[in-house]
Amino acid sequence: MSDDIKKGLLGIVVDETTISQVMPEINSLTYRGYTVQELCDKCSFEEVAFLVLNGELPNEKQLKKFIKEERSNRKLSKQILKDIQKMPKKAHPMDVIRTSVSLMSLEDKETKDNSSKANMRKAMRIFAKTPTAIAAFFRVRKGKKIISPKKNLSFSENFFHMCFGKVPTKEIVKAFDVSLILYAEHSFNVSTFTARTITSSLSDIHGAITGAIASLKGPLHGGANEEVMHMMNKIKKPENALKWINNTLDKKDVVMGFGHRVYKKGDSRVPTMQKYFKKVAEIKGDKKFNKIYDIVERVMIDRKNIHPNVDYPTGPTYHLMGFDTDFFTPIFVISRITGWSAHIMEQHAANKLIRPLSKYKGQEHRKVMLLNYR
Ligand code: CMC
Repeated sequence: MSDDIKKGLLGIVVDETTISQVMPEINSLTYRGYTVQELCDKCSFEEVAFLVLNGELPNEKQLKKFIKEERSNRKLSKQILKDIQKMPKKAHPMDVIRTSVSLMSLEDKETKDNSSKANMRKAMRIFAKTPTAIAAFFRVRKGKKIISPKKNLSFSENFFHMCFGKVPTKEIVKAFDVSLILYAEHSFNVSTFTARTITSSLSDIHGAITGAIASLKGPLHGGANEEVMHMMNKIKKPENALKWINNTLDKKDVVMGFGHRVYKKGDSRVPTMQKYFKKVAEIKGDKKFNKIYDIVERVMIDRKNIHPNVDYPTGPTYHLMGFDTDFFTPIFVISRITGWSAHIMEQHAANKLIRPLSKYKGQEHRKVMLLNYR
């Protein structure tokens, strides 16, 4: 392949952004200038969602208004709830969520309005309603009754309530909140770039988020958190971990939850999420996944110098919280909607159609032979 082709856009800077900065050289990630570590320590997910969407941390009055708007938009229409009930129980929840966001566009009165004010209102509606759709399918496919959202619960508490009918301890809710903060935004990753590309044709936010969800589903991106859990289940017990990881590396197979296009010395989100994974494991009395986690990580670093990415600790954390494995990436969605929406609005504000070039290597120019001569 010739040198002027940058497959995978490797190392190419395609635009400017004010939303987040990935800084592998100092192992940091900032949202609007604040490190994610500090945001996890000092803020709720709602505060961070406001920050990502609006550019500044909210004061008390602004936060109250934001929370009120989110909570009052949580309910889905009867039609969409009916549609979710009719969806095949075996469908992957990411496909259900992608379809649900697409359905929301059919009902939204402002679908065609791409003004920044309308986009912010639509972003809020998608942000508030998508967890309800995910939780509805979580229950429907188990043959359980759908649970309506509750206005007196936080974003994270309400998600647990809608999935399980109860809210866990403060520590578990905080660990979930932290995972959402860490998943909220990550510059020009593949799903965000997908959203920006769709937006660049002046298409609408529902379409851009629908496309972003499809992109996030892949195992090289958000789908990795599910793959991590499949791997841990395959390993089964800590005694098998060393042999399993060595065999996998001998076969030159990819180990999910490790490696990153930008971070080569470790993902800056991992230490925080790992701390909360360990806490959840302790609360749940888990001895198995915790040990498997440590063994696989040690061998990956010793043998390959490849470090875990954020999907490595979130996978087992969500499992210990009681979520089905194929709901891990949909949880990623409910958080990343904030980052995608901010990027969609940024793209609209200074748009340029995204249209790269390709090098043609097909047939030479030739004439069409009529059908009876072919
Ligand atoms: N397991 C084993 N080997 C790996 C891994 C891994 N997870 N990641 C990279 N490598 C090796 C790869 O085989 C290659 O080796 P060689 O040079 O001998 O061919 C070398 O490291 C460079 O890898 P690459 O695939 O060319 O690097 P990339 O920047 O294109 O890929 C990646 C980044 C994330 C696609 C890759 O690391 C990967 O497939 N990881 C597993 C999937 C995963 O965990 N994805 C989540 C990404 S972060 C969070 C998110 O977006 O959701």
